[in-house]
Amino acid sequence: MNKLKNWSGITAVIGVDWGDSGKGRIIDDLAQEADIIARYNGGSNAGHTVVNHYGKFALHIIPSGIFNQKATNLIGKGVAVDLESLIDDEIIQLKKSGVSWKNLVIDKQATLTMPWHKLRDGIREESRKYNKVGTTKRGVGPTYADRTERVGLRVGDLYSKNFREILEAEIKIQNRFFSLNLSSEKIYKKFKSYAKIIKPYIGQTIPILKEAIAKGKNVLFEGAQGWLLDIDNGTYPFVTSSNPGIVGIWRSYDLHPSLINNVIGITKAYTTRVGFGPMPSKIETNQRDIIIEKGHEIGTTSGRVRDPGWLDLVLLKAATDSNQVTQIAITKIDVLSKIPKIKICTGYKISGKPAHYIPGNSYYLSLCKPVYEQFPGWDEDLSQVRKFEDLPKNAKDYIKRIEEYTKTPVTFIGVGPGREEAIYV
Ligand code: IMP
Repeated sequence: MNKLKNWSGITAVIGVDWGDSGKGRIIDDLAQEADIIARYNGGSNAGHTVVNHYGKFALHIIPSGIFNQKATNLIGKGVAVDLESLIDDEIIQLKKSGVSWKNLVIDKQATLTMPWHKLRDGIREESRKYNKVGTTKRGVGPTYADRTERVGLRVGDLYSKNFREILEAEIKIQNRFFSLNLSSEKIYKKFKSYAKIIKPYIGQTIPILKEAIAKGKNVLFEGAQGWLLDIDNGTYPFVTSSNPGIVGIWRSYDLHPSLINNVIGITKAYTTRVGFGPMPSKIETNQRDIIIEKGHEIGTTSGRVRDPGWLDLVLLKAATDSNQVTQIAITKIDVLSKIPKIKICTGYKISGKPAHYIPGNSYYLSLCKPVYEQFPGWDEDLSQVRKFEDLPKNAKDYIKRIEEYTKTPVTFIGVGPGREEAIYV
């Protein structure tokens, strides 16, 4: 039984940072008591690491609840469905480890990430001298762009009797507009074979979700990335193309945010960012390499090194306020052990005057200079600690300051990567 309190009913687990805070681990834990686990945003750009008795998995699109045979896992219409990742990578990983994945429903209306989306993502990034976003090159931006333009192929199109014609017409346009040289025959064959494999899992996720809610079941929404990468309120243009916060749930499942009982906001005990864009509390000293090494700050999906920063409470509070976060889960506090002085950013200044986080304005954020509070560190190895009271005083003070600033309780503290290496407050 998982030990996190007050999460039953409708719960969302979201990143209140730039992603990579360990959502897969928390979802895998909570999913043991969930009836529905629903992904609502992002695509194969996400990398959710799950370590459990089946082994270690790097999931991208499949919800981290797939290991609970009694629960239903939904891939909502807001997800960019990359079948190359889903079938050639994730399903193979699950099959090899003997995990049955019958409990999966992929929404017919979800937009497909097609080979041209990945090519366009790469071409766009490589052609930029300045203002590179540093995307994962998984085709996520172009997939959402086509969806917004209402020209994206959807999962249901794979089963249309006109699929070949629809595909050929689209490839013609893609080849012409983007100077590509795609063969429609090759892509047709590949996607027809994918369509056959996933046919048993195609459905309509919204009625399944609404029926479960009407019956009072436990529903868990699994966010991908983090709120600071939100297309509307993140650090645009250095963001992803979906809504990682609770708005994404509304858009994907037609569920008003006010109906969500619990919002669990996850962040690491420090912050990290991969890709480009401003980060006021970026660590420039030798603590940077220590954190990268101890925290294994290398992306699951991209293999890129993540830039570490001190925990930024200005951004954390903006995220918890915007998403009405009811409890905070902090991961990787063990990584901060033995750092003599730990900083925490509690404000910004521009030209000596107080400044705030303005959602969507990364230029403004790039001008912000951090105002720090400094905390004495602790030397103890925290991996065996299971009770808040048993943490070193300095670590407790650090957590208390986060609660005080955000006015939100911290209910989970990760002290190591293993399922058991956690404090439930
Ligand atoms: P895209 O989502 O691949 O288009 O990338 C846009 C930005 O979001 C880049 O800065 C990526 O590094 C970042 N990003 C996308 N997915 C993730 C993720 O799962 N974790 C952390 N950063 C991500």
